[in-house]
Amino acid sequence: MVNKYILGIETTAHTFGIGIVKDGKVLANVKDSYTTEKGGIIPSEAAKHHEKVAGELYKKALETAGINENEIDAIALSNAPGLAPCLLAGLRFTKQLAGKLHLPVVPVNHCIAHLEIGRLTGAKDPVLLYASGANTQIIAYASGKYRVFGETLDLGIGNFIDTFARYAGLGFPGGPKIMELARGGKYIDIGYSIKGMDVAFSGILTKLRQMLESGTYKLEDLSYSLQETAFAMLVEAAERALAHTGKRELLLGGGVACNKRLQEMCRIMCEERGAKMFCPENQFLVDNAGMIGYLGEIMFDKNIFEKNIEKLDINPRERTDDVKVLWKSE
Ligand code: ATP
Ligand code: FE2
Repeated sequence: MVNKYILGIETTAHTFGIGIVKDGKVLANVKDSYTTEKGGIIPSEAAKHHEKVAGELYKKALETAGINENEIDAIALSNAPGLAPCLLAGLRFTKQLAGKLHLPVVPVNHCIAHLEIGRLTGAKDPVLLYASGANTQIIAYASGKYRVFGETLDLGIGNFIDTFARYAGLGFPGGPKIMELARGGKYIDIGYSIKGMDVAFSGILTKLRQMLESGTYKLEDLSYSLQETAFAMLVEAAERALAHTGKRELLLGGGVACNKRLQEMCRIMCEERGAKMFCPENQFLVDNAGMIGYLGEIMFDKNIFEKNIEKLDINPRERTDDVKVLWKSE
């Protein structure tokens, strides 16, 4: 199927995004994120934010792609997983638009979209290290499904880093600031927590907080040690997943994958085991609707969509392996 315009909509958490995709090319990828001083999310407030910015961003996306709304052939909505109020804001916007323009809707799983967008970088069958604010998972395709091989048992890596940064008075988001501070730091032992392919960060966070409050350590050293430790855990888990699945490609996804040190550590691990690392550009690492439209197009091409928009619903707790992957041929 060529020459179809797919409109992607992303509203699962902080970010409201609209993407426009045609023939595997992302023609527009605009977004606006709800943020607070503290960085915590109040889902109902985020949903209000999404409703407020939706109309403007929709117009902006059409302008960027240089198309008229009547040229859209289908809508792809990320309806799972995520925060219910945020997902509902996306669902309402989608139903309205699909009703007005008489369009089919493709329901897209957010986590799987992070993986599929990796095709843009040339990855064909990768292990995904998905490292974002709320999520930390290692996902790969096996026996007809995308499966979670490992994940965090408590905090997401981004929330872990951002929380430490907040304790240190660095504001939100802390990830980029910690990355800069870490450049001048030295290593201190702060513990290490991995079981199989699962990781945990809350114990390390407590330790870091105590060290920070003791006033005897430099913030540069704590930042460096945080990154070296947390990223080594992720790299170790990812390496195990590569070994376990026999795959030879590692793909990065999620906002924390913007971190240069994490990218470097992943690259070194891959080189050492003869695997290849793929890292999409930052606009496709963070939450975005380009990836939703991109996977939406692949699914629509295989006739996977909902014709009756009344049946369309959200699925806040959908698990990655709940999704029937009908668009992939083995
Ligand atoms: P999800 O719903 O997928 O969990 P999210 O809204 O929590 O998404 P993303 O938009 O994928 O998250 O990423 C946000 C996170 O990325 C924040 O924790 C932020 O600190 C982190 N981040 C962004 N840039 C960098 C960077 N250069 N280094 C480290 N972390 C970064
Ligand atoms: Fe995400």
